Amino acid sequence: MCGIVGAVANNDIIPVLVEGLKRLEYRGYDSAGVAVLKSGNLERVRRVGKVRELDSALADSGLSATTGIAHTRWATHGQPSEANAHPHTSADTIAVVCNGIIENHDELRADLVGKGYAFMSETDTEVVAHQIHFFIEQGNEFFEAVTRTCALLEGAYALAIIKHDEPNRMIGARRGSPLIVGLAENENYIASDISALLPVTNRYLVLDDGDLCEINQHSIRVVDATGSEVSRPIRESKIKADAVELGEYRHYMLKEIYEQATAVADTLDGRLAGDRILEQAFGPESAAIFDSTRFVQIIACGTSFHAGLVASYWLESFGVPCRVEIASEFRYRAHAVPDDALVVTISQSGETADTIAALTEAMRIGFKHSLSICNVPESSLVRDSDICLMTHAGPEIGVASTKAFTTQLAALMLFAIAMGRRFNMDSDTEARLVSEMKTLPAKIEQALNLDEDIAEVAKQFADKDHSLFLGRGAHYPIAMEGALKLKEISYIHAEAYAAGELKHGPLALVDGRMPVIAVAPNNELLEKLKSNIHEVRARGGRLLVFADAAAGIEAEEDVQVMHVAPVDDSISPIIYTIPLQLLSYHVALIKGTDVDKPRNLAKSVTVE
Ligand code: M6R
Repeated sequence: MCGIVGAVANNDIIPVLVEGLKRLEYRGYDSAGVAVLKSGNLERVRRVGKVRELDSALADSGLSATTGIAHTRWATHGQPSEANAHPHTSADTIAVVCNGIIENHDELRADLVGKGYAFMSETDTEVVAHQIHFFIEQGNEFFEAVTRTCALLEGAYALAIIKHDEPNRMIGARRGSPLIVGLAENENYIASDISALLPVTNRYLVLDDGDLCEINQHSIRVVDATGSEVSRPIRESKIKADAVELGEYRHYMLKEIYEQATAVADTLDGRLAGDRILEQAFGPESAAIFDSTRFVQIIACGTSFHAGLVASYWLESFGVPCRVEIASEFRYRAHAVPDDALVVTISQSGETADTIAALTEAMRIGFKHSLSICNVPESSLVRDSDICLMTHAGPEIGVASTKAFTTQLAALMLFAIAMGRRFNMDSDTEARLVSEMKTLPAKIEQALNLDEDIAEVAKQFADKDHSLFLGRGAHYPIAMEGALKLKEISYIHAEAYAAGELKHGPLALVDGRMPVIAVAPNNELLEKLKSNIHEVRARGGRLLVFADAAAGIEAEEDVQVMHVAPVDDSISPIIYTIPLQLLSYHVALIKGTDVDKPRNLAKSVTVE
């Protein structure tokens, strides 16, 4: 789960590489490095820590060059250290950056050690550098040496490679991990995704799985898995270069929380007409696929999994049989495959390795069709699915997912209605849901008004080590999402329970040091939830309850109530998410953690 940038230009590319890495830091950030070609030599600078450490080291070095590769790392093999930071080299002639995992690296390493190669790192990538060097020593041309090396590699990877005596030339390879080629006037680039290159170009092509490419200042050559030269379509990114800039906000997470009204409006834009949803948003093949679907299997990870859980409540309430599973579990167990089943994958990035593998497995064992709900149009998941529905959240940089989640819920509601039409949802229900969906942006803005009050309440959490989140029905996954956000960025242990489960065990944990956060919308489960609140109070627990004023939950010494504006139950999971995001943000702020880049995590989990 690393980020790659490479550039071949006729002026200094160091600033482009550094800016590109900063934009890719969401993919991993425990160390970073660059290797450039300088007068027939490779020069390399690497640093442990974030890209800013590398940036200042490069500034001190005064290094400049016209060809170079760069990398930001999220450790998989070997701890974060300068020796393990990329690029990795062989004999000071080959430099390689890699995103992914070379699964057979032990075997290759043993073979290369036997041939006399000394390894300087614990990484799986170093074998790639030495293997290429070995093939060159055997008389292979650079491109041929890379091709032969790739043929030996098992696993999923994206590579960028330079050679000391080949100025103005770079080779890239992709299998299982994303890699794009950026095109500009007299300069060309390689990157993990186009966001890295937006300050210099928005024109790019996406390499297919198994492709190798070679670029120089003036040309690009792509060769597919069979060795044939191919052309890949040139695309133009619509993302604005400043879409990934912080602007007035202190953190990306806060910016992204505040962007949710617009992001949800953008996700619904053009997909609602009058009191109906427009199914065409799912693409021309969707009607036949939905018509033939009798069962929905949702697969996702993390926050996207929580979105899937909410959707399952919606779908089943419309009579659509549905199951939801974490991708890493789905991919490794035996399944009784239901007839006429549609697999729905949900992912912000579209590059989550477990989700991609689970989709592949689902299709292998006989699930009939696939739909991806995703935020990145060029992603692997979108390309691997029969149909897709894009969320229009815009780039999400904060590792803790916020606007991706609420836009996924908006998209999933469209999907639930499309499927519900084919089961037992009538047109009045659709009309009511559509009218509620149209209120979402305004209701989200209202929920954001709780920001200051939540910042105040957060002060009581910052010194706590544990917390419990409770919810019922479709708000149970919202409690799960609230707990995930809090643990992810504040490092406070947070667990979510379906409130009715409290007395089956977790109640034993409740005392004055265990804050309990309850999501209590005004719906038919409210009275049940109130009983659960009493169970907590009776054990000396302290509560923070998110409820609307009409719910009749009064503030007491041991109960704090945050009033959420009244909202229809159909869309309330989306609205009740907002205060929980704000709570975790403010707790993290008080604790002084790195909100956008919490420890040990990365934005896109492109490795298993
Ligand atoms: O890109 P994806 O939606 O597939 O990512 C799935 C999870 O890795 C992601 O939601 C993760 O749980 C977030 N960091 C949560 O905030």
